[in-house]
Parts: sequence; structure tokens; C-alpha cells
Amino acid sequence: MNYNLSILEKDSSYISRIIDNYFNCDVLFSKKIGEGFYGGVYIVDIAKEPYRVAIKWYKHSGRNKREEKQLNLLRKHSLLKVPQTYFTHNQSEDIPCEALIMEYVEGVNAAQLPTNHINKEKFKDEMIGNLIHLHNISNEKGFGDGEQMFTDWKSCYGKRVKNLHRILHSEFKDSISPYVMKVADESLDAFDKIFAEPIKKSSLIHSDYNLWNILVDEKSAKITAIIDPLDAGWADKEIDLFHLQNADGDRFGLLKHYQSNTKLCELFEVKNAFYWFWDDIRHMKNMGWYNEERFTLFGEKLLILKQEYIGI
Ligand SMILES: Nc1ncnc2c1ncn2[C@@H]1O[C@H](COP(=O)(O)OP(=O)(O)OP(=O)(O)O)[C@@H](O)[C@H]1O
Ligand SMILES: [Mg+2]
Repeated sequence: MNYNLSILEKDSSYISRIIDNYFNCDVLFSKKIGEGFYGGVYIVDIAKEPYRVAIKWYKHSGRNKREEKQLNLLRKHSLLKVPQTYFTHNQSEDIPCEALIMEYVEGVNAAQLPTNHINKEKFKDEMIGNLIHLHNISNEKGFGDGEQMFTDWKSCYGKRVKNLHRILHSEFKDSISPYVMKVADESLDAFDKIFAEPIKKSSLIHSDYNLWNILVDEKSAKITAIIDPLDAGWADKEIDLFHLQNADGDRFGLLKHYQSNTKLCELFEVKNAFYWFWDDIRHMKNMGWYNEERFTLFGEKLLILKQEYIGI
């Protein structure tokens, strides 16, 4: 089920109702502070503790519970703060959308930091140090979301990509270019070779660790929280790395910083391009988002690296 969140902008009484339902008090102030692929976020001041909350509303059913679970998992292990979750709301007659009410954390998103910030190195150490720490945490049951688990990464991820590939052919044949479809077909054909190096241990991944999802104190660049996981769980740590390049992360050299502090697979580069391309396909499937230029560019990169690294 999908929700149209524009009703929230037209009618502020939904915010008053959700606060009344869960906190039994009045709203003093509310404002929309973010809108992404999957949701919209409001800052809301209320008349009793905790006085200020963040409410995230979702365009897709079930994401509120999933994000709550993922934030709770990450909070158990993260060196950096992860907001507390207070309540999840499921669609009801008086509030016909799904939401997660959570702790509001001060800060701006880290994409707003200037590249020459005086504390840039400390910021990078803090952000990447936390990611390496998370990646060193493993689940003895293997790979997956915590419920459905696989003993090896290739079966876990292969199942996901093959399913996406099937949907691509059945539902998106007419909406993507033949070239993008060719990249999908040829990269999947090479799956066994691209993923030939075994992943011995699963890692805890955030799954959307980019500058937009890191909150910082603007002045000191100190990280105040990490937010917005999409599919946090147990995976090959390298699937978590292309996010470092999203949101213009290369201006801080985030991936380089990670690489200089940890060892990656021989085939990392081609795997990274594979992960990135198929992640975009996943967003397309979920949200209908398709940018021909970007998909083509990422596809070209993937085919070149495939040739370079595995010779086909
Ligand atoms: N707990 C919070 N405390 C303070 N600000 C928050 C909090 N959660 C979200 N925000 C603000 O809202 C913005 C958007 O939040 P978030 O990253 O969770 O969603 P999104 O990226 O819009 O959604 P999507 O899930 O579609 O990617 C953040 O960049 C941040 O400024
Ligand atoms: Mg976000």
C-alpha cells in the first residue's frame, strides 16, 4: 500500500491528532524539515516531555516498523548516537498514514559542511571509524535481515538480484532503455565471477550511510547522530561503501579514508559498481524513479570494470 503524504501539508490537524494519540498533549509548533524517496519528516514541539520530536511519515506501508527495528539494531552497536524511537503509528481512521515518532536530535545534515571545514579530518575519522566499527560486528547466523538468514552471501544477495532482474523484465521492459537492460542482463550473467571471492563473515551494515544521513553540529562538525537506514542488517560490508560516494561524499574522500583503514576484496571495484547499479534499479522498482543519463553512466562503468576485472 502507498500513501500520498500531501494530505499532511494541506491539513495540520493530522500532526495534532498523532501527538494527542500518543502523548495526550497539544502541539506548540510543527514544520516539515525533510522529504526523500520514501518519506517526509516533521519537527514537532509538544507541550510535555520530550518537548520536541521528529515524526517521519512513510509513502510505503510497513517501513515505519522496519525503520524502528533497524534504528534499534544500529543503536545497540553504534559508537555514534542513533535517535530513540518512541512510537510507530499504523493507518487508522483519523490518521490514514503510517509514521514513526522519534527523538529529535539537533544538527544539520553533513552534506552542508563546507569541504574546507577546519575539523574536516576529525569529522571523517568519526564517520568512517563508526562504519568500520559496525562492519566488524558479525552475526553467527550469517547474512540477511535478522529474520530470514542465509549461511552464505552469494545466495542471500543473489536471490535479491535475481528477483529484481525478473521484475525488470516483467514490469519495466518498456520504461528503461535497451542499453540499461543489457547491463542488467550481462552483469547478472557474470554474477558468479564478480562474487567469486567468498565473504567469510557477515557485517552489520547501515545501508544508506551517506552525508545526508549524518547529522552534525554545523560549527564543530561533531556528529550528533546517524539516521535513516533503509535495509540495515547482515551483509558483505562492501555493499555499504558506495553510499560513501553518494551525496558528493568524494569531496571529503570518504571511501578513500575507509579503504586506507581496512582491507577490501581484490574484486572490490567491480563489485562496488555492481552494487551501485543494482541499488538504483531497486529504487526504480520501489519508487518508479529513473534517470536515463545516470543509469547509462553507471551501466557503462559497470561493464568496463567487468571486462577489466574478470575479462568478460
Ligand atoms: N531524528 C531526527 N532528528 C532531527 N532531524 C531529523 C531526524 N530525522 C530526520 N531528520 C531530518 O530530516 C531529514 C530527512 O530525514 P531522513 O533522512 O530520515 O529521511 P529522508 O532521507 O527524507 O527519507 P528517505 O527515507 O526517503 O531517504 C534529515 O536530513 C534531517 O535533517
Ligand atoms: Mg535521508
